[in-house]
Amino acid sequence: MKNIDSNGHVTGRSIYLDDIPVQQGTLFALPYDAPSAHAHIKKLDVSKAAAVPGVVRILTYADVTGENQIGGIIPDEPLFAGKEIHFWGMPVALIIATSEDIAIQARKLITIELEELPVITDPREARAKGELIIPPRTFRLGDPGKVWTECAHVFEGRADTNGQEHLYIETQGAYAYPTEHGSIRISSSTQGPTAVQRTIARVLGVAMHKVEVDVTRLGGGFGGKEDQASAWAALVALAAYVLKKPVKLAMHRMDDMRMTGKRHPYSSDFKIGLSKDLKILAYEATFHQNAGAAADLSPAVMERTLFHATNSYFVPNVEVTAYCCRTHLPPNTAFRGFGGPQGMFVIESAIAKAAQALGVLPREIQQRNLLKEGSTFSYGQIADRVLADQAWEHADKSFKFDALQKEVDAFNTKSTSHVKGMAIMPICFGISFTNTPMNHARALVHVYQDGSVGVSTGGVEMGQGLNTKMVQVAAEVFSIDPSRVKLESTNTTRVANTSPSAASATADLNGKALEIGCTAILERIKEKASRMLNAKPEAITIVNEQVLNNGKVTDLDWKKLIHACHWDRVNLSESGHYATPEIHFDKTKEKGHPFAYHVYGTAAVLVTVDRLRGTYVVDAVKLVHDFGKRMNTAVDIGQIEGGLVQGLGWMTMEEIVYNDKGKLLSNALSTYKVPDIHSVPKEITIEALPTDGHPLAIRRSKAVGEPPLMYGIGVYFAIQNAVKAANPNYALRFDAPFTPEKVLMGLYGQMERR
Ligand code: MTE
Ligand code: HPA
Ligand code: MOS
Repeated sequence: MKNIDSNGHVTGRSIYLDDIPVQQGTLFALPYDAPSAHAHIKKLDVSKAAAVPGVVRILTYADVTGENQIGGIIPDEPLFAGKEIHFWGMPVALIIATSEDIAIQARKLITIELEELPVITDPREARAKGELIIPPRTFRLGDPGKVWTECAHVFEGRADTNGQEHLYIETQGAYAYPTEHGSIRISSSTQGPTAVQRTIARVLGVAMHKVEVDVTRLGGGFGGKEDQASAWAALVALAAYVLKKPVKLAMHRMDDMRMTGKRHPYSSDFKIGLSKDLKILAYEATFHQNAGAAADLSPAVMERTLFHATNSYFVPNVEVTAYCCRTHLPPNTAFRGFGGPQGMFVIESAIAKAAQALGVLPREIQQRNLLKEGSTFSYGQIADRVLADQAWEHADKSFKFDALQKEVDAFNTKSTSHVKGMAIMPICFGISFTNTPMNHARALVHVYQDGSVGVSTGGVEMGQGLNTKMVQVAAEVFSIDPSRVKLESTNTTRVANTSPSAASATADLNGKALEIGCTAILERIKEKASRMLNAKPEAITIVNEQVLNNGKVTDLDWKKLIHACHWDRVNLSESGHYATPEIHFDKTKEKGHPFAYHVYGTAAVLVTVDRLRGTYVVDAVKLVHDFGKRMNTAVDIGQIEGGLVQGLGWMTMEEIVYNDKGKLLSNALSTYKVPDIHSVPKEITIEALPTDGHPLAIRRSKAVGEPPLMYGIGVYFAIQNAVKAANPNYALRFDAPFTPEKVLMGLYGQMERR
């Protein structure tokens, strides 16, 4: 089925926050943010700004009617800076004016006197100074300490990954207006409507039922709006509440880039031990997560790093420890993969280092250590329905790794201007919120008396095709034409207490809830049909809108049946609730069964590097992916392509730079390079691993949102292999992104680890 949003998107008719018709009297908000990463505020002077004609009010922490606090996991994040500034870009005041332009003019007139304090931007420094947001956590299996001496080879090293700007096309924003009884209705570009509702209730000091959050769709979230949409929504809601007027904020790109957190940079140490026949016997890693100035989602992100520290491999002895380090960067947050990619990069680095030293191809080590059925993950879950070998073997058979490598080698002996490299990237990603209690969802279904269907779920459409899949679920359960089904906006008054749309689990959780709701209605209408047809309810089926009795066509169809149900006062509305079965996790032991299932895949990546310039192109990414029993091919292929390109952007060109004062230098699209049409691999081949899917996946179609990002990690290693081929003196370096500048340095001369 075609994506129900595609026509709207390409014709510009889809409605985003900034497209909502503006009500009469709407005011415009603009945050004034801290021009320092760590300081005491000695004096804030807004008087000149407040005097600008058209400025209605300037709010600060003193105007908060409830709690000046937005921290979700830990209450450590003030909405407005009070006496102290914790990061460059922290909101200090909110200007409310009759137009955006006036607010921008007024912002320039605000002055602030600061007493500067020491700034930490490096997570290792934070750890050394004891600046940890939560105590470190360790996942353990076996005991690496006991087996190092048994290992034929042991290698140690360091691996760093930088952050990543979400760069959702639609920036953060919210539009609030006061309604009756001291309530607020707000449209927010958020992945977490309930998080926004809860945060606003706390900041305003009102009950949650006074706050209605509505979301039509997002122009991308990528994790950046899982938690971080709440601040802007709370600011706007506060202004609307205090001023009793509609208030709107659609962030400017540079404001958004400066004020919001990003993917967490990590600085990690690893130690890997192998047997003579290249079995990984032991693996240790220490992860320093750069959390930024407040917890935000960092503790959860850190947890997923530990879960995915051994990627798609079985390692019998594992000890991985992660530190959640408080620095003075904007609080870093969820980003596609949620800490998993950072963990996987480190073990891939360890394997690359071992392979280089042992003179073997990394893929020899990779393949020999793939997870097997019944393997234990370091967190205690027993791997079942494992597809690691199948994905690898299918990819090897389809793409012929040896032949590809031969082509690369042959090219490299001939060309003096370019050099090619290849890498294989297997992935294994766990599906479920790592925080077990978050794995639930609800849906509300109305069958209207004319046979059309309205569906609300707790899930948010952010470009990932959720709504299309939800239409399919309802249409398939009822066996009616998808055109009869309409997806409503996501609204906290229709579906309450939602988890954010995240963890790639949105379609599974909300789709299962929707199935439950639709099935309950279906049972009732079949019962009515059985009465009308003098048949047993079990004998009734509905197929393609026809009511069948014992498989035989009757003269009753969907429309007639629904009409009859309505007149017979049959309840045609239902809500479904779903909570993932089987999952559990005990944090005191760091053991359990946190994931409903895992998603597997294997990619072969081929790149060509320009020996003179250090620039590169990705020639091909050929991959085999475990979609399960795919319910929407076009949507899922879109997720693979987008995830892959986003992943290779992180690995190669997206370079976030803060100076040592904590100021973001890569603060615009002129200084922050994201993949464009030219950076897309020249060839992307996607093959589906033939399986019958997983029962805990929606209609057996596995989650697909985040896993493909991690194929992008292969691009780093493919470039590295090209550089190695060109320069025998090149010392391996695991320090993403591998920008053309670093490639050029690698091509010439011996690189020292920094
Ligand atoms: N695809 C698009 N087009 N836009 C997005 O914002 N977010 C990604 C992924 N794919 C995103 C996307 C992230 S971070 C997640 S967790 C999943 O989609 C969320 O949606 P799902 O749970 O329905 O897969
Ligand atoms: N993914 C995304 N968001 C989350 C998760 C997760 O695993 N756990 C808690 N919030
Ligand atoms: Mo995705 S990082 O779980 O929003």
